[in-house]
Amino acid sequence: MTGTPQLHPLGETLGTEARGIDLSHLDDATFAWVAQAFAEHPVLVFRNQHLTAEELAAFGRRFGTPRIHSLVKYRYPGVPEVSWLRNVDDSGNIDWYGVKRATDWHTDSTYEAVPPLLAMLHALEVPSEKGGTMFADMRAAYDTLPAAMKDRLGTLVGLHGRTDGPAGARLYDPEEEMRMTDKAFPERQRPAVIRHPVSGREILFVNPMHTHGFVGMGKDEAWELIEELARHATQDHLVYYHSWQVGDLLMWDERATMHRGAGDYRPDERRVMMRTIVYPN
Ligand SMILES: [Fe+2]
Repeated sequence: MTGTPQLHPLGETLGTEARGIDLSHLDDATFAWVAQAFAEHPVLVFRNQHLTAEELAAFGRRFGTPRIHSLVKYRYPGVPEVSWLRNVDDSGNIDWYGVKRATDWHTDSTYEAVPPLLAMLHALEVPSEKGGTMFADMRAAYDTLPAAMKDRLGTLVGLHGRTDGPAGARLYDPEEEMRMTDKAFPERQRPAVIRHPVSGREILFVNPMHTHGFVGMGKDEAWELIEELARHATQDHLVYYHSWQVGDLLMWDERATMHRGAGDYRPDERRVMMRTIVYPN
């Protein structure tokens, strides 16, 4: 441990910097401190880290099982538990899919049989300005809903697909998506409100990328509700905009947050990150 670690808030409800930690030399006591902090602070940032892909995967393994990414072309060579999040291809040309990808609100992979616990991004190259990642606090989103809406959501079960929700329809071409993945994704049912297994807090678990309906509800009514909930959850005071610095390692709780790329930078400037997504063991 390099001194006593400390937490410093970065945003109003979300975004916390953990200082005094070198993730490449993380002893068990410090790891326990990190895990504890993360349960209460679902977007946790470590500055000035310089991890290899192997070290990033190893950090992920301390929380669970990092998953091999479904989009083949984004796998990190030789370390399949790590994927690229970048706007350039191997030859350095702009990858337009990489530029627009994930620039609307979502929670990762809620359409999988077992959704992820958390994800990590490690910034290697960042644009000269903007190019941030935005996070919404879905605990605060739930807490600030009107009581009548909480009652309504308490009985609803969401339907989750790969890019089937209103935000997915805006952002992606279904045929292009089909070509890029090596798996099929059957629809999943998830309660609209879940409870965090560690903190016990209630969470609004509806996201406009993957939630495309509710059991027993027509599509028009469902999409209207999904959009209404997304607007509520992404009000400015519930959102943290992370401005990247080279060496940042940011981890977020996949149950308690939504996120998106801000999509606000010049695409001819390189934005290169390594990512790992961690599932329960
Ligand atoms: Fe994502």
